[in-house]
Amino acid sequence: MTASLTITRPDDWHLHLRDGAVLRAVLPATARHFARAIIMPNLVPPVVTGADAAAYRDRIRAALPHGQDFTPLMTLYLTEDTDPDDVADAHAAGLIAAVKLYPAGATTNSASGVRDFDRVRPVLERLADLGLPLCVHGEVSDAEVDIFDREAVFIDRVLDPIRRATPGLRVVLEHVTTREGLEYVRSADTGLGATITAHHLVINRNHLLSGGIRPHYYCLPVAKRETHRRALVAAATSGDARFFLGTDSAPHVNAAKETACGCAGCFTAPNAMAVLAHVFEAEEALERLEGFTSINGAGFYGMAQNTGSLTLVRGDEAASCPPSIPTEDGPVTVFDPGFPLHWSVSE
Ligand code: NCD
Ligand code: ZN
Repeated sequence: MTASLTITRPDDWHLHLRDGAVLRAVLPATARHFARAIIMPNLVPPVVTGADAAAYRDRIRAALPHGQDFTPLMTLYLTEDTDPDDVADAHAAGLIAAVKLYPAGATTNSASGVRDFDRVRPVLERLADLGLPLCVHGEVSDAEVDIFDREAVFIDRVLDPIRRATPGLRVVLEHVTTREGLEYVRSADTGLGATITAHHLVINRNHLLSGGIRPHYYCLPVAKRETHRRALVAAATSGDARFFLGTDSAPHVNAAKETACGCAGCFTAPNAMAVLAHVFEAEEALERLEGFTSINGAGFYGMAQNTGSLTLVRGDEAASCPPSIPTEDGPVTVFDPGFPLHWSVSE
């Protein structure tokens, strides 16, 4: 039995850090394990302009505990009013690594997202010219589309038409959750990748809904059937460089989750790497963990691999992970994989 595994220091290609008290409380958990992360811009109000991104980057840097080395990779929140020149300037200044497309109403803080995709054509064309990736929340938000079908419908109705109309556009299908999404990514020759979360490798919709409703397993895209989870595990552990880790760690204080209308998001930053080691070991694919967490995403984004390393150790006893972390706004529950975690990061 492998007792320890040392890999190139990982990156998180999809992360919510929030702002203020929650930012200060959650950032150390990510910075302990990850060298870089793509920072989601869905604050209230959202991070829309280059100036917003610079200010948010500075707040993240200020919240970083002394001695922790972590690079936030900033993104802009695409709206129907986004100015292509502002995007190009922010890119030229080295300020942003991607632009994020949220269909309006698809998820947490997406009200400023896109309703009419024709209105963002000039920005999409500029992204293609610049080679700057578009990160996509791949779900339609139409009330008449069943929530479990929203990813597959988005691919057919929105994503494929956008990609056909915009040759050269590089797209990351974020937090893919379905076989249809995986197949779509595999069908593309170039310019299309997908992030996969740790939690979607572990939970299916029964974990969320069977035997009582579990608000801490509610996230968007919502967990799907077991067949989809199995397909996600197969893709993540396959070594296919188009698939890479984006935890979508999305902290909400317990009061906002354990309520009649709870927020979507699983907070996985503290134990994502331990959960992934467990999943990859169960698939006898531990040697592919590094590709998924540390190599494939950097390749897609055209960035150098990290030079540092991370060591995971496997103990005979289950490692303990605090069930929640305190913030000045209240506790945030850490994702419970539902099985003992024998792997932990050697700190
Ligand atoms: C995210 C959040 O809370 O900001 N929630 C989630 O369930 N993943 C938004 C998102 O990435 O969809
Ligand atoms: Zn997210």
